[in-house]
Amino acid sequence: MSPGALGSAESRSIAAPGTAPYDPAPALTEELPVPAKPERRPVRPQFSSGPCAKRPGWSAAALDAALLGRSHRARPSVERIRTVLGESRRLLGLPDDYRLALVPASDTGAFEMAMWSLLGARGVDVLAWDSFGEGWASDVEKQLRLDDARVLRADYGELPDLGAVDFARDVAFTWNGTTAGVRVPDGDWIADDRSGLTLCDATSAVFAMRLPWEKLDVVTWSWQKVLGGEAQHGMLLLSPRAVERLESHTPPWPLPKIFRLTKGGKLAEGPFRGETINTPSMLCVEDALDGLRWADEIGGLDGLVARSEANLACVADWVERSDWVEFLATDPRTRSCTSICLAITDPRFLALDPAARGATAKQAVSRLADEGVAYDIGSYRDAPAGLRLWGGATVERADLEALLPWLDWAWGEAAADLGA
Ligand SMILES: Cc1ncc(COP(=O)(O)O)c(C=O)c1O
Repeated sequence: MSPGALGSAESRSIAAPGTAPYDPAPALTEELPVPAKPERRPVRPQFSSGPCAKRPGWSAAALDAALLGRSHRARPSVERIRTVLGESRRLLGLPDDYRLALVPASDTGAFEMAMWSLLGARGVDVLAWDSFGEGWASDVEKQLRLDDARVLRADYGELPDLGAVDFARDVAFTWNGTTAGVRVPDGDWIADDRSGLTLCDATSAVFAMRLPWEKLDVVTWSWQKVLGGEAQHGMLLLSPRAVERLESHTPPWPLPKIFRLTKGGKLAEGPFRGETINTPSMLCVEDALDGLRWADEIGGLDGLVARSEANLACVADWVERSDWVEFLATDPRTRSCTSICLAITDPRFLALDPAARGATAKQAVSRLADEGVAYDIGSYRDAPAGLRLWGGATVERADLEALLPWLDWAWGEAAADLGA
């Protein structure tokens, strides 16, 4: 049914969001109230989980001072890259003896570089509870073909048994499973006296969640997530123990130039001093600096985390009142404050087969995009059909608040179509 096919929203029974009586098993043909189309719209409808919304107030003027047409090896260019490294280090409170580099190919490049350079010296446990974790597990098993690899898996919405991880082995995991909306609640499960290394893909967590750096030997992220930077630039953080491994372990497989972190058996210092392996975009570097300046203005890491947690809290309040949606994360402690994944629990939806669920959710998501109130909020292609809202710091809480009644409206319309 197209919007309006039942007549105007006003001619239907209208319920305020969350106040409609909940019937646990309505007949598929039963018509439930469809909320009226809200009047207030999000000022910025960008709720994508990557690339994420630019910071509030961003315009291309933020890039005016970019060193365009200059060599990235010129002194001022290297200094700007160094400033990105230094400011990231300061804002995140990184330990002094950890090394940070700008590397090619975004978070994927950074994490692959770490896995290909470091793994193989001992057994590895890979934790997978979303499609990115599955991707790393697949690389370990099918590309690196490590003999001694275990994959600890969990379904969407759950975490694997963290108590089963063996820290005498290397451990690869995502801090926040972006496609499941499930994060590890803290680092208490990570052994301080581990002999293996911990490799953490934290791209949708850094700058939004507090990370226990001393428990993490490798951390990777990209600019296009929490600070709303441009894509394709990766950040790679190494602990002293990770550097030690690099300098003592030579992988048996060939390493392409963009993965090479050592020279003559020693850490290649260049990338950690702003001398990148290959050419970065100085436009993106300028944008990253802009994001870092904004982060500073809003209170640094505390401000960023507070904004993101407030966004999650605002969605959680609404979910609490809703009768058609739940968090995909089953344990509230594991709910992500960045990639907020929601499962549709309306019985009319649950009665559908997976393909029809996907089509129905897509229809609701498209309606919202057509209205210009929310872009890119469908769940990830491998995840259960539902919604995913980005709640990172660049998203304004007021915009999420304005969006939520639209979600009720869009679902009301999509569900009415099911009964039509
Ligand atoms: C957990 C996780 N890992 C890796 C990636 C890939 O990041 P990129 O596209 O920056 O390489 C993403 C992107 O959403 C992600 O969320």
